[in-house]
Amino acid sequence: MAKSKIAYVCSDCGSDFPKWQGRCDDCGAWNTLSEFRTGSPASGGSKPRAGQFAGYAGSLSDVKTLAEIDLTELPRLGTGVDELDRVLGGGLVPGSAILIGGHPGAGKSTLLLQVLCKLAQSQSAMYVTGEESLQQVAMRAQRLSLPTDSLKMLSETSVESICAVAEKHKPKLLVVDSIQVMSREEVPSAPGGVAQVRECAAYLIRYAKLTNTVLILVGHVTKDGTLAGPKVLEHMIDCSVMLESSTDNRFRTLRGVKNRFGAVNELGVFAMTEKGLREVKNPSAIFLSRADEPAAGSVVMVVWEGTRPILVELQALVDDSNYGNPRRLAVGVDQNRLSMLIAVLHRHGGVQVGDQDVFINVVGGLKVVETSADLALLLAIISSLRDRPLSTDLVVFGEVGLSGEIRPVPSGQERLNAAAKHGFRQAIVPEANVPKGGVKGMKVMGVKTLAAALAAL
Ligand code: TYD
Ligand code: MG
Repeated sequence: MAKSKIAYVCSDCGSDFPKWQGRCDDCGAWNTLSEFRTGSPASGGSKPRAGQFAGYAGSLSDVKTLAEIDLTELPRLGTGVDELDRVLGGGLVPGSAILIGGHPGAGKSTLLLQVLCKLAQSQSAMYVTGEESLQQVAMRAQRLSLPTDSLKMLSETSVESICAVAEKHKPKLLVVDSIQVMSREEVPSAPGGVAQVRECAAYLIRYAKLTNTVLILVGHVTKDGTLAGPKVLEHMIDCSVMLESSTDNRFRTLRGVKNRFGAVNELGVFAMTEKGLREVKNPSAIFLSRADEPAAGSVVMVVWEGTRPILVELQALVDDSNYGNPRRLAVGVDQNRLSMLIAVLHRHGGVQVGDQDVFINVVGGLKVVETSADLALLLAIISSLRDRPLSTDLVVFGEVGLSGEIRPVPSGQERLNAAAKHGFRQAIVPEANVPKGGVKGMKVMGVKTLAAALAAL
């Protein structure tokens, strides 16, 4: 009989090594390798037993050409929550595995319970809870006034039992909350370890693929902000989304990290209320909570999130530095980019902030990764430095190059339309982003260089 194989797996990056060592060669983390015993072939290994999921169409070992593959099954299952559908790329794809990650208390269980209770009325759905008791979940559903009559509930932590029950009830949608408490009998390590998480997820995903079930796994984020064994899970699943809370804790943003069926970096926004999570249909409203008085250092920009524009307020504070080494602090934008832009401002705009502290903040706790924020950032710095408020009906966007040129950004027209809809009357944008026909009710100033932008101010 063949012996079971032993490998040592890094709990941070998922790399495996034949021998134990103190430091992972791949990610450089110390003391993260733990023993991982792959099942012996005689016991069936990680694969389900032969004939276990018999009776379902299609076997994974059939070879077909792309043209022969039946595409009729592809219609997506809407979740009934637009913000979630958007992040998923238009709904749930049958046979796909989705991972919802987030810190404990982010609202993953709440969101899924809300979605499933409503969906269960038209589809068969099953919610497996390994963390909370059935009473706890039922009480929450009752408190949120959700329809409770059709959702099938199961309290279980063994994946073999879950798949056996699921096989009997054949749900179209299976939620497992959470993958960190699940275990397989054959794997000797404790639940939550790399080996267990990997094996359990593989087992459940295989079940989902063979039976065309939508599988949603809940995963907790560890202290340092990564999903326990992030790479361990990420290559197996089709779609990974993160539920994050904003700085003031009332809003939750749902962001796609990986999606085999749509674009990533879509953003869904929810508000946590006493009645559970509510969709925020117009996120610009929360990121734009401006005081009525014009304030120096504040400017509104239009950032592009996935498929839609969001208006966000950016604030800068420039102040005399008390120390020899002035501080540059950015919250919500990249710190290195800030340093770079300050250099451009000095060299090509002739504005010196070398002896000043510069603080940048994106209101509402949003993280902006787009370069379209560059121009707004520089104008905010100048506004604060000169203590001259910018007009409250002005929006700004555009990328700034190292030679002081203002570069166009994608979807200029849509950004301007969104700003006009929110009542903005003036815009400073890259020359190439100025629409030919103009924007109704808005004065759009196209600029080519940083110097021209300063002049337009
Ligand atoms: P939960 O959904 O259990 O989070 P997770 O499964 O991601 O760990 O909890 C969400 C948090 O939201 C919890 O701390 C309490 C709060 N909450 C509300 O504010 N309103 C509500 O209606 C509910 C159900 C929870
Ligand atoms: Mg939970």
